[in-house]
Amino acid sequence: MIADSTPICARAHANIALIKYWGKRDAALNLPAVGSISITLADLYTETALTWHNAATDTATLDGQPVESKRISHVMDLIRALADTDQRAAVTSTNNFPTGAGLASSASGFAALVVSASAAAGLELSTRELSILARQGSGSAARSIEGGFVEMHRGHRADGTDAYAAPLADKDSWPLEVVVAITTRAQKAVDSTTGMTDTATRSDFFDAWVAGADGDLDAAREAIANRDFDALGALSERSCLKMHGLMLSTGDGLIYWSSATVAAIHEVRKLRAEGVPVYFTIDAGPQVKALCAPGYGAMVAERLGAVVGVEAAQLMGLGPAAHVIA
Ligand code: PMV
Repeated sequence: MIADSTPICARAHANIALIKYWGKRDAALNLPAVGSISITLADLYTETALTWHNAATDTATLDGQPVESKRISHVMDLIRALADTDQRAAVTSTNNFPTGAGLASSASGFAALVVSASAAAGLELSTRELSILARQGSGSAARSIEGGFVEMHRGHRADGTDAYAAPLADKDSWPLEVVVAITTRAQKAVDSTTGMTDTATRSDFFDAWVAGADGDLDAAREAIANRDFDALGALSERSCLKMHGLMLSTGDGLIYWSSATVAAIHEVRKLRAEGVPVYFTIDAGPQVKALCAPGYGAMVAERLGAVVGVEAAQLMGLGPAAHVIA
């Protein structure tokens, strides 16, 4: 029993994958079919306050609205098992950005949840253990435990103990800039778990996608080690297009892009043709994230902000690991 706990608040930052994760090797443990490499973002984050309470169920709110989520209860059950308690929790979360629109809200959300819940339970977990817990809420959340450049290992063990994220490079060691071009604040129509299952079972290209992943990861790791912006940018754009090609090739064709997404893609390529070091990436939603070499973000934000259909273009740097803030 951890009765009358004081609230513990954690902040976790969203991340964007440069080498994408899409597809699961085990649905129950949420094990990825491929590894991934991401960067953690400075200005998009979730703050989660958690208190243990004497109610029969966990309760959760996100941005003031009640949320019912089997995944939250599942992650809380895992933490309860580690803490040897059956006490339920009151979880209060806020995102400083639109939820569920392809801006990685589940990543920052589950990372903030496991950091706050484990701290509130008095558990002293390693970042690897936190990453493994976060993964069971959302695959990309495993990466938001860490800051800067992060690699998520696909792992090979059936129990998932080798499927976790680890840091590749510190955020300050290569201060890349990211422009997030928001094209809509609406929630996406097909969530990523549904989309991944559909792709794995109904795309002819899924095996090729999995077979190509390790080569992309090796090349991206090398580009980061060498601070080779053009190599990393080109690999990122290609991984994004391969993933969206895979989505397009599922049974019903999964299209996350809007016309503004396509317009922003062309603007990024136009900027590059003008000599600006910038590459795009897009997750399971219509927003475009532009990866910029240090010093180029402001002009990219100005140009993307002027694209028809782009509602806002927000410039940010790389963010830190998830951490307790109060
Ligand atoms: O783990 P999820 O359910 O948030 O899925 C993430 C999928 C992508 O954002 C499209 C790619 C990625 O690696 O983050």
